[in-house]
Amino acid sequence: MSRFASVLALPVLFIVGCGGEPAPADPLLGLQLIGDDLSDIPLHGASAEQVARFKEGDALFDFVFRERDGLGPLYIRSACAGCHEGAARGPGAVQKMVLVEADGVTPAVDQAALPYGHTMRPYGVAGATTLARPELEGTIKLSQRLGPPVFGRGYMEAVDDAEIERVAAEQAARGDAIRGRINRVVFHSKKNADESFHTFAEGDENLIGRFGFKARVATLDDFTADAYQGDMGITSPLRPDELPNPDGLTDDAKPGEDVVLDTVNAVADYMRLLEIPRRAPADERGQALFAEVDCAACHVPSLRTRADYPIAQLADIDAPVYTDFLLHDLGPDLADGLADESASSVSWRTAPLIGMRHSTSYLHDGRARTIEQAILLHDGPASEAADSVAAFRALSREDREALIDFVRSL
Ligand code: HEC
Ligand code: HEC
Repeated sequence: MSRFASVLALPVLFIVGCGGEPAPADPLLGLQLIGDDLSDIPLHGASAEQVARFKEGDALFDFVFRERDGLGPLYIRSACAGCHEGAARGPGAVQKMVLVEADGVTPAVDQAALPYGHTMRPYGVAGATTLARPELEGTIKLSQRLGPPVFGRGYMEAVDDAEIERVAAEQAARGDAIRGRINRVVFHSKKNADESFHTFAEGDENLIGRFGFKARVATLDDFTADAYQGDMGITSPLRPDELPNPDGLTDDAKPGEDVVLDTVNAVADYMRLLEIPRRAPADERGQALFAEVDCAACHVPSLRTRADYPIAQLADIDAPVYTDFLLHDLGPDLADGLADESASSVSWRTAPLIGMRHSTSYLHDGRARTIEQAILLHDGPASEAADSVAAFRALSREDREALIDFVRSL
Protein backbone atom coordinates (compact mmCIF):
# COMPACT_ATOMS: atom_id res chain seq x y z
CA MET A 1 0.00 0.00 0.00
CA SER A 2 2.99 2.30 0.04
CA ARG A 3 2.09 3.09 -3.57
CA PHE A 4 -1.11 4.58 -2.19
CA ALA A 5 0.85 6.60 0.38
CA SER A 6 3.19 7.96 -2.26
CA VAL A 7 0.21 8.94 -4.38
CA LEU A 8 -0.94 11.09 -1.46
CA ALA A 9 2.52 12.55 -1.07
CA LEU A 10 3.00 13.26 -4.79
CA PRO A 11 -0.31 14.60 -6.08
CA VAL A 12 1.31 16.19 -9.13
CA LEU A 13 2.78 12.94 -10.40
CA PHE A 14 -0.51 11.27 -9.68
CA ILE A 15 -2.45 13.77 -11.76
CA VAL A 16 0.04 13.61 -14.61
CA GLY A 17 0.11 9.81 -14.53
CA CYS A 18 -3.56 9.08 -14.06
CA GLY A 19 -5.46 12.09 -15.34
CA GLY A 20 -6.67 12.95 -11.84
CA GLU A 21 -8.86 9.85 -11.57
CA PRO A 22 -8.48 7.57 -8.57
CA ALA A 23 -6.33 4.55 -9.38
CA PRO A 24 -8.32 1.40 -10.25
CA ALA A 25 -8.68 -1.21 -7.51
CA ASP A 26 -5.48 -3.20 -7.29
CA PRO A 27 -5.93 -6.94 -6.73
CA LEU A 28 -2.64 -6.94 -4.80
CA LEU A 29 -3.61 -3.99 -2.62
CA GLY A 30 -1.87 -4.47 0.69
CA LEU A 31 0.88 -6.62 -0.80
CA GLN A 32 4.27 -5.20 -1.64
CA LEU A 33 5.88 -6.46 -4.81
CA ILE A 34 9.66 -6.25 -5.12
CA GLY A 35 10.53 -7.82 -8.45
CA ASP A 36 8.67 -11.08 -8.20
CA ASP A 37 9.52 -11.28 -4.52
CA LEU A 38 6.45 -10.83 -2.34
CA SER A 39 6.84 -9.16 1.04
CA ASP A 40 4.43 -7.25 3.28
CA ILE A 41 2.07 -10.22 3.22
CA PRO A 42 0.03 -11.91 5.97
CA LEU A 43 1.10 -15.16 7.65
CA HIS A 44 0.75 -18.28 5.53
CA GLY A 45 -2.55 -19.91 6.22
CA ALA A 46 -4.07 -16.72 7.59
CA SER A 47 -7.84 -16.97 8.04
CA ALA A 48 -10.19 -14.53 6.31
CA GLU A 49 -10.58 -12.77 9.64
CA GLN A 50 -6.81 -12.47 10.07
CA VAL A 51 -6.38 -11.15 6.52
CA ALA A 52 -9.06 -8.51 7.21
CA ARG A 53 -7.30 -7.45 10.42
CA PHE A 54 -3.95 -7.41 8.59
CA LYS A 55 -5.35 -5.11 5.90
CA GLU A 56 -6.95 -2.83 8.47
CA GLY A 57 -3.65 -2.48 10.32
CA ASP A 58 -1.64 -2.15 7.10
CA ALA A 59 -3.83 0.77 5.98
CA LEU A 60 -3.32 2.47 9.34
CA PHE A 61 0.43 1.81 9.13
CA ASP A 62 0.47 3.63 5.78
CA PHE A 63 -2.00 6.35 6.79
CA VAL A 64 -0.54 9.84 6.46
CA PHE A 65 -1.67 11.88 9.47
CA ARG A 66 -2.55 15.54 8.97
CA GLU A 67 -2.72 18.36 11.45
CA ARG A 68 -6.44 17.81 11.97
CA ASP A 69 -5.79 14.13 12.77
CA GLY A 70 -3.64 15.19 15.72
CA LEU A 71 -0.20 15.25 14.12
CA GLY A 72 2.36 17.04 16.30
CA PRO A 73 2.83 19.50 17.92
CA LEU A 74 6.28 18.12 16.98
CA TYR A 75 6.93 15.16 14.75
CA ILE A 76 9.53 13.44 12.59
CA ARG A 77 7.36 11.76 9.95
CA SER A 78 3.62 11.69 9.44
CA ALA A 79 3.18 7.93 8.80
CA CYS A 80 4.69 4.72 10.16
CA ALA A 81 5.45 3.78 6.56
CA GLY A 82 7.54 6.95 6.22
CA CYS A 83 10.28 5.06 8.07
CA HIS A 84 9.19 1.47 7.34
CA GLU A 85 8.07 1.63 3.72
CA GLY A 86 6.45 -1.61 2.61
CA ALA A 87 7.36 -2.90 6.10
CA ALA A 88 11.01 -2.76 5.02
CA ARG A 89 13.86 -0.45 5.99
CA GLY A 90 13.61 3.35 5.80
CA PRO A 91 13.64 5.72 4.03
CA GLY A 92 12.91 7.79 7.17
CA ALA A 93 15.32 7.91 10.09
CA VAL A 94 15.50 9.38 13.57
CA GLN A 95 18.35 11.78 14.35
CA LYS A 96 19.71 11.59 17.89
CA MET A 97 21.93 13.85 19.95
CA VAL A 98 23.59 13.42 23.35
CA LEU A 99 26.27 15.12 25.42
CA VAL A 100 29.22 12.82 25.90
CA GLU A 101 32.45 12.80 27.87
CA ALA A 102 35.76 13.54 26.14
CA ASP A 103 36.06 9.87 25.11
CA GLY A 104 33.15 10.46 22.74
CA VAL A 105 31.34 7.35 24.00
CA THR A 106 30.34 7.79 27.65
CA PRO A 107 27.16 9.84 28.15
CA ALA A 108 27.83 12.96 30.24
CA VAL A 109 26.12 13.00 33.63
CA ASP A 110 24.73 16.47 32.99
CA GLN A 111 22.27 16.46 30.06
CA ALA A 112 20.56 19.69 31.17
CA ALA A 113 21.41 21.35 27.86
CA LEU A 114 18.99 18.90 26.22
CA PRO A 115 15.86 19.46 28.31
CA TYR A 116 13.57 17.88 25.71
CA GLY A 117 15.57 14.70 25.31
CA HIS A 118 17.85 13.19 22.72
CA THR A 119 15.62 13.05 19.66
CA MET A 120 15.50 15.76 16.99
CA ARG A 121 11.93 16.51 15.90
CA PRO A 122 12.34 18.59 12.77
CA TYR A 123 8.70 19.35 11.98
CA GLY A 124 6.04 21.21 13.96
CA VAL A 125 2.44 22.19 13.32
CA ALA A 126 1.13 25.74 13.74
CA GLY A 127 4.62 27.18 14.10
CA ALA A 128 5.68 25.09 17.13
CA THR A 129 9.40 25.38 17.85
CA THR A 130 11.04 22.27 16.47
CA LEU A 131 13.77 20.33 18.23
CA ALA A 132 17.07 20.54 16.47
CA ARG A 133 20.66 20.42 17.57
CA PRO A 134 21.28 23.23 20.05
CA GLU A 135 24.37 25.45 19.82
CA LEU A 136 26.46 23.94 22.57
CA GLU A 137 29.79 24.23 24.26
CA GLY A 138 31.39 20.85 24.88
CA THR A 139 30.92 17.54 23.13
CA ILE A 140 27.66 16.68 21.46
CA LYS A 141 27.45 13.32 19.72
CA LEU A 142 25.10 12.98 16.80
CA SER A 143 23.81 9.68 15.45
CA GLN A 144 20.96 8.34 13.42
CA ARG A 145 18.68 5.33 13.56
CA LEU A 146 17.17 4.15 10.34
CA GLY A 147 13.69 2.62 10.59
CA PRO A 148 14.34 -1.15 10.56
CA PRO A 149 12.21 -3.70 8.72
CA VAL A 150 9.21 -4.91 10.72
CA PHE A 151 8.80 -8.28 8.96
CA GLY A 152 8.24 -11.28 11.22
CA ARG A 153 7.90 -9.23 14.42
CA GLY A 154 4.97 -11.44 15.52
CA TYR A 155 7.36 -14.40 15.57
CA MET A 156 9.66 -12.28 17.73
CA GLU A 157 6.92 -11.26 20.16
CA ALA A 158 5.82 -14.90 20.46
CA VAL A 159 9.23 -16.23 21.57
CA ASP A 160 9.06 -17.68 25.06
CA ASP A 161 10.85 -15.68 27.80
CA ALA A 162 12.41 -18.94 29.02
CA GLU A 163 14.18 -19.37 25.68
CA ILE A 164 15.82 -15.94 25.89
CA GLU A 165 16.85 -16.66 29.49
CA ARG A 166 18.27 -20.03 28.41
CA VAL A 167 20.41 -18.46 25.66
CA ALA A 168 21.67 -15.75 28.05
CA ALA A 169 22.72 -18.46 30.53
CA GLU A 170 24.43 -20.48 27.79
CA GLN A 171 26.38 -17.43 26.65
CA ALA A 172 27.40 -16.61 30.24
CA ALA A 173 28.90 -20.11 30.46
CA ARG A 174 30.98 -19.71 27.27
CA GLY A 175 34.70 -19.22 27.63
CA ASP A 176 34.92 -16.43 25.05
CA ALA A 177 33.81 -12.79 24.78
CA ILE A 178 30.22 -13.48 23.71
CA ARG A 179 28.07 -12.64 26.71
CA GLY A 180 24.72 -11.09 25.91
CA ARG A 181 22.48 -9.55 28.54
CA ILE A 182 18.72 -9.25 28.81
CA ASN A 183 17.42 -5.66 28.85
CA ARG A 184 14.73 -5.72 31.56
CA VAL A 185 12.37 -2.87 30.77
CA VAL A 186 9.35 -1.24 32.31
CA PHE A 187 6.14 -2.29 30.66
CA HIS A 188 3.82 0.60 29.94
CA SER A 189 0.83 -1.00 28.29
CA LYS A 190 -0.92 -2.72 31.18
CA LYS A 191 -3.88 -0.47 30.50
CA ASN A 192 -4.44 -2.27 27.22
CA ALA A 193 -7.78 -4.06 27.27
CA ASP A 194 -6.28 -6.74 25.04
CA GLU A 195 -3.78 -8.33 27.40
CA SER A 196 -3.71 -11.68 25.67
CA PHE A 197 -0.39 -10.99 23.93
CA HIS A 198 1.35 -10.16 27.19
CA THR A 199 2.96 -12.35 29.77
CA PHE A 200 3.33 -10.65 33.09
CA ALA A 201 2.53 -11.52 36.65
CA GLU A 202 0.66 -9.14 38.94
CA GLY A 203 3.12 -6.50 40.17
CA ASP A 204 5.70 -7.48 37.54
CA GLU A 205 7.05 -4.25 36.09
CA ASN A 206 10.06 -5.66 34.33
CA LEU A 207 9.66 -7.58 31.12
CA ILE A 208 12.27 -8.73 28.62
CA GLY A 209 12.92 -5.94 26.14
CA ARG A 210 12.75 -7.24 22.58
CA PHE A 211 12.05 -4.36 20.22
CA GLY A 212 14.15 -1.35 19.25
CA PHE A 213 17.87 -1.37 18.50
CA LYS A 214 18.59 -1.47 22.22
CA ALA A 215 15.68 -3.80 23.08
CA ARG A 216 13.98 -1.08 25.07
CA VAL A 217 10.34 -2.16 24.54
CA ALA A 218 8.71 -5.49 25.42
CA THR A 219 5.64 -5.76 23.17
CA LEU A 220 4.32 -4.58 19.82
CA ASP A 221 1.35 -2.63 21.18
CA ASP A 222 3.71 -0.81 23.51
CA PHE A 223 6.06 -0.07 20.60
CA THR A 224 3.22 1.16 18.41
CA ALA A 225 1.96 3.58 21.07
CA ASP A 226 5.53 4.72 21.70
CA ALA A 227 6.22 5.32 17.99
CA TYR A 228 2.95 7.18 17.52
CA GLN A 229 3.83 9.49 20.40
CA GLY A 230 7.58 9.89 19.85
CA ASP A 231 7.85 9.90 16.06
CA MET A 232 4.51 11.42 15.07
CA GLY A 233 3.06 13.33 18.04
CA ILE A 234 0.00 11.04 17.98
CA THR A 235 -1.36 10.39 21.48
CA SER A 236 -3.36 7.28 22.44
CA PRO A 237 -4.79 5.73 25.61
CA LEU A 238 -1.42 3.99 26.13
CA ARG A 239 0.55 7.26 25.73
CA PRO A 240 -1.99 10.03 26.48
CA ASP A 241 0.43 12.96 26.82
CA GLU A 242 2.24 14.98 24.19
CA LEU A 243 5.98 14.95 24.83
CA PRO A 244 7.47 18.02 26.55
CA ASN A 245 8.41 20.69 24.00
CA PRO A 246 9.95 24.17 24.00
CA ASP A 247 6.59 25.95 23.64
CA GLY A 248 5.02 24.05 26.55
CA LEU A 249 2.24 22.83 24.25
CA THR A 250 0.15 20.05 25.80
CA ASP A 251 -2.09 19.42 22.80
CA ASP A 252 -2.40 19.88 19.06
CA ALA A 253 -5.17 20.71 16.56
CA LYS A 254 -7.14 17.61 17.64
CA PRO A 255 -8.12 17.96 21.30
CA GLY A 256 -7.38 15.03 23.62
CA GLU A 257 -6.17 11.58 22.57
CA ASP A 258 -5.58 11.44 18.83
CA VAL A 259 -6.28 7.73 18.25
CA VAL A 260 -8.33 5.14 20.11
CA LEU A 261 -6.95 1.94 21.60
CA ASP A 262 -8.16 -0.24 18.74
CA THR A 263 -6.08 1.79 16.29
CA VAL A 264 -2.95 0.97 18.30
CA ASN A 265 -3.97 -2.67 18.52
CA ALA A 266 -4.82 -2.92 14.81
CA VAL A 267 -1.36 -1.63 13.87
CA ALA A 268 0.24 -4.02 16.37
CA ASP A 269 -1.85 -6.89 14.96
CA TYR A 270 -0.73 -6.00 11.42
CA MET A 271 2.90 -6.44 12.50
CA ARG A 272 2.03 -9.62 14.42
CA LEU A 273 0.42 -11.07 11.30
CA LEU A 274 3.20 -9.93 8.95
CA GLU A 275 4.98 -12.93 7.40
CA ILE A 276 8.73 -13.44 7.13
CA PRO A 277 9.51 -12.93 3.41
CA ARG A 278 9.95 -16.28 1.71
CA ARG A 279 13.39 -17.72 2.28
CA ALA A 280 15.24 -19.55 -0.44
CA PRO A 281 16.10 -23.14 0.47
CA ALA A 282 19.20 -22.82 2.65
CA ASP A 283 22.54 -23.18 0.92
CA GLU A 284 24.12 -25.84 3.12
CA ARG A 285 27.67 -24.58 2.83
CA GLY A 286 26.70 -21.00 3.77
CA GLN A 287 24.50 -22.20 6.59
CA ALA A 288 27.25 -24.42 8.02
CA LEU A 289 29.76 -21.55 7.86
CA PHE A 290 27.28 -19.24 9.64
CA ALA A 291 27.39 -21.64 12.59
CA GLU A 292 31.10 -22.43 12.27
CA VAL A 293 32.29 -18.83 12.61
CA ASP A 294 29.84 -18.24 15.48
CA CYS A 295 27.43 -15.84 13.78
CA ALA A 296 24.77 -18.21 15.10
CA ALA A 297 25.89 -17.70 18.70
CA CYS A 298 24.22 -14.26 18.64
CA HIS A 299 22.05 -14.52 15.53
CA VAL A 300 20.35 -17.63 16.99
CA PRO A 301 18.61 -19.30 14.02
CA SER A 302 15.53 -20.36 15.90
CA LEU A 303 13.84 -20.02 19.28
CA ARG A 304 10.71 -21.76 20.57
CA THR A 305 7.54 -19.69 20.95
CA ARG A 306 5.02 -19.65 23.78
CA ALA A 307 2.37 -22.35 23.62
CA ASP A 308 -0.26 -19.79 24.68
CA TYR A 309 0.56 -17.07 22.12
CA PRO A 310 -2.85 -15.99 20.82
CA ILE A 311 -2.03 -16.31 17.11
CA ALA A 312 -2.25 -20.05 16.52
CA GLN A 313 0.22 -20.11 13.58
CA LEU A 314 2.89 -18.61 15.85
CA ALA A 315 2.24 -20.62 19.02
CA ASP A 316 4.57 -23.47 20.03
CA ILE A 317 6.76 -23.36 16.93
CA ASP A 318 10.45 -22.86 16.23
CA ALA A 319 10.58 -19.20 15.23
CA PRO A 320 13.40 -18.58 12.73
CA VAL A 321 14.30 -15.10 14.05
CA TYR A 322 18.12 -15.11 13.85
CA THR A 323 18.48 -13.07 17.03
CA ASP A 324 18.96 -13.81 20.73
CA PHE A 325 17.22 -10.54 21.80
CA LEU A 326 20.31 -9.89 23.97
CA LEU A 327 22.45 -6.78 24.25
CA HIS A 328 26.04 -7.10 23.11
CA ASP A 329 28.91 -4.66 23.39
CA LEU A 330 30.23 -4.05 19.90
CA GLY A 331 32.87 -1.49 20.90
CA PRO A 332 33.29 2.27 20.56
CA ASP A 333 33.06 2.53 16.77
CA LEU A 334 29.36 1.68 16.74
CA ALA A 335 28.61 3.47 20.06
CA ASP A 336 26.05 6.26 19.93
CA GLY A 337 26.41 7.70 23.44
CA LEU A 338 22.83 6.78 24.30
CA ALA A 339 21.56 4.54 27.06
CA ASP A 340 18.15 2.80 26.98
CA GLU A 341 17.07 1.24 30.27
CA SER A 342 20.05 -1.06 31.01
CA ALA A 343 21.53 -0.78 27.49
CA SER A 344 24.67 1.34 27.37
CA SER A 345 26.25 3.49 24.70
CA VAL A 346 28.15 0.53 23.23
CA SER A 347 25.41 -2.09 23.46
CA TRP A 348 23.05 -3.20 20.72
CA ARG A 349 20.46 -5.94 20.48
CA THR A 350 21.49 -8.61 17.99
CA ALA A 351 19.77 -7.52 14.79
CA PRO A 352 17.21 -10.12 13.67
CA LEU A 353 18.26 -11.32 10.22
CA ILE A 354 14.86 -11.32 8.54
CA GLY A 355 14.19 -10.19 4.98
CA MET A 356 17.81 -9.08 4.50
CA ARG A 357 17.49 -8.89 0.71
CA HIS A 358 14.87 -6.16 1.10
CA SER A 359 17.43 -3.84 2.73
CA THR A 360 19.92 -1.69 0.87
CA SER A 361 21.84 -0.62 3.95
CA TYR A 362 22.61 -2.30 7.25
CA LEU A 363 23.32 -1.69 10.95
CA HIS A 364 21.31 0.69 13.13
CA ASP A 365 22.33 3.80 11.22
CA GLY A 366 22.60 2.23 7.78
CA ARG A 367 26.33 2.91 7.60
CA ALA A 368 27.02 -0.46 5.92
CA ARG A 369 26.16 -0.59 2.23
CA THR A 370 26.68 -4.33 1.89
CA ILE A 371 26.25 -7.36 4.12
CA GLU A 372 30.01 -7.87 4.04
CA GLN A 373 30.58 -4.34 5.36
CA ALA A 374 28.00 -4.93 8.08
CA ILE A 375 29.93 -8.01 9.21
CA LEU A 376 33.31 -6.26 9.13
CA LEU A 377 31.91 -3.30 11.11
CA HIS A 378 31.07 -5.60 14.08
CA ASP A 379 34.80 -5.83 14.55
CA GLY A 380 37.09 -3.99 16.93
CA PRO A 381 39.20 -4.95 19.91
CA ALA A 382 36.38 -4.30 22.39
CA SER A 383 33.65 -6.02 20.39
CA GLU A 384 32.04 -9.24 21.62
CA ALA A 385 31.91 -10.25 17.95
CA ALA A 386 35.66 -9.74 17.32
CA ASP A 387 36.52 -13.48 17.23
CA SER A 388 33.60 -14.22 14.95
CA VAL A 389 34.58 -11.47 12.53
CA ALA A 390 38.22 -12.61 12.62
CA ALA A 391 37.06 -16.14 11.74
CA PHE A 392 34.98 -14.68 8.89
CA ARG A 393 38.02 -12.77 7.57
CA ALA A 394 40.09 -15.95 7.67
CA LEU A 395 37.68 -17.78 5.33
CA SER A 396 38.49 -18.17 1.65
CA ARG A 397 36.80 -15.67 -0.70
CA GLU A 398 34.49 -18.45 -1.88
CA ASP A 399 33.42 -19.34 1.63
CA ARG A 400 32.87 -15.71 2.58
CA GLU A 401 30.62 -15.38 -0.45
CA ALA A 402 28.67 -18.52 0.45
CA LEU A 403 28.13 -17.16 3.95
CA ILE A 404 27.01 -13.74 2.66
CA ASP A 405 24.64 -15.38 0.15
CA PHE A 406 23.12 -17.34 3.01
CA VAL A 407 22.58 -14.14 5.06
CA ARG A 408 21.06 -12.44 2.01
CA SER A 409 18.62 -15.29 1.57
CA LEU A 410 17.24 -14.93 5.11
C1 HEC B 1 10.69 8.84 11.98
C2 HEC B 1 10.84 7.46 11.60
C3 HEC B 1 9.91 6.45 12.21
C4 HEC B 1 8.53 6.45 12.24
C5 HEC B 1 7.59 7.52 11.77
C6 HEC B 1 8.15 5.20 12.84
N1 HEC B 1 9.25 4.45 13.13
FE1 HEC B 1 9.28 2.56 13.87
N2 HEC B 1 11.28 2.67 14.08
C7 HEC B 1 12.07 3.73 13.72
C8 HEC B 1 13.39 3.56 14.26
C9 HEC B 1 14.55 4.52 14.10
C10 HEC B 1 13.38 2.36 15.01
C11 HEC B 1 14.47 1.80 15.91
C12 HEC B 1 14.11 2.46 17.24
C13 HEC B 1 14.99 2.25 18.41
O1 HEC B 1 16.08 1.75 18.32
O2 HEC B 1 14.56 2.63 19.51
C14 HEC B 1 12.03 1.83 14.86
C15 HEC B 1 11.63 0.61 15.39
C16 HEC B 1 10.37 0.08 15.23
C17 HEC B 1 9.96 -1.24 15.68
C18 HEC B 1 10.87 -2.26 16.35
C19 HEC B 1 11.49 -3.17 15.32
C20 HEC B 1 12.54 -4.06 15.91
O3 HEC B 1 13.18 -4.79 15.20
O4 HEC B 1 12.76 -4.05 17.12
C21 HEC B 1 8.64 -1.36 15.41
C22 HEC B 1 7.79 -2.57 15.71
C23 HEC B 1 8.20 -0.12 14.81
N3 HEC B 1 9.29 0.72 14.70
C24 HEC B 1 6.92 0.16 14.42
C25 HEC B 1 6.49 1.45 14.07
C26 HEC B 1 5.09 1.83 13.97
C27 HEC B 1 3.92 0.92 14.21
C28 HEC B 1 5.07 3.15 13.61
C29 HEC B 1 3.88 4.06 13.46
C30 HEC B 1 2.98 4.13 14.61
C31 HEC B 1 6.45 3.57 13.47
N4 HEC B 1 7.28 2.52 13.78
C32 HEC B 1 6.84 4.84 13.09
C33 HEC B 1 11.67 4.79 12.94
C34 HEC B 1 10.35 5.17 12.78
C1 HEC C 1 28.42 -10.88 19.68
C2 HEC C 1 27.19 -11.05 18.95
C3 HEC C 1 27.26 -11.06 17.42
C4 HEC C 1 27.99 -11.89 16.60
C5 HEC C 1 28.97 -12.98 17.01
C6 HEC C 1 27.64 -11.52 15.26
N1 HEC C 1 26.73 -10.51 15.25
FE1 HEC C 1 25.86 -9.68 13.64
N2 HEC C 1 25.01 -8.27 14.81
C7 HEC C 1 25.09 -8.22 16.17
C8 HEC C 1 24.50 -6.98 16.65
C9 HEC C 1 24.39 -6.57 18.10
C10 HEC C 1 24.06 -6.29 15.51
C11 HEC C 1 23.39 -4.90 15.45
C12 HEC C 1 24.47 -3.82 15.30
C13 HEC C 1 23.93 -2.46 14.90
O1 HEC C 1 22.77 -2.34 14.51
O2 HEC C 1 24.69 -1.49 14.94
C14 HEC C 1 24.39 -7.12 14.37
C15 HEC C 1 24.08 -6.81 13.03
C16 HEC C 1 24.31 -7.64 11.96
C17 HEC C 1 23.90 -7.39 10.60
C18 HEC C 1 23.11 -6.17 10.13
C19 HEC C 1 21.64 -6.50 10.08
C20 HEC C 1 20.75 -5.34 9.78
O3 HEC C 1 19.53 -5.57 9.63
O4 HEC C 1 21.20 -4.20 9.72
C21 HEC C 1 24.31 -8.44 9.84
C22 HEC C 1 24.09 -8.64 8.35
C23 HEC C 1 25.01 -9.35 10.72
N3 HEC C 1 24.99 -8.84 11.99
C24 HEC C 1 25.59 -10.53 10.33
C25 HEC C 1 26.47 -11.26 11.12
C26 HEC C 1 27.29 -12.35 10.64
C27 HEC C 1 27.25 -12.89 9.22
C28 HEC C 1 28.05 -12.76 11.70
C29 HEC C 1 29.13 -13.81 11.69
C30 HEC C 1 30.28 -13.54 10.86
C31 HEC C 1 27.67 -11.95 12.84
N4 HEC C 1 26.73 -11.06 12.45
C32 HEC C 1 28.18 -12.12 14.13
C33 HEC C 1 25.64 -9.18 17.00
C34 HEC C 1 26.49 -10.19 16.56
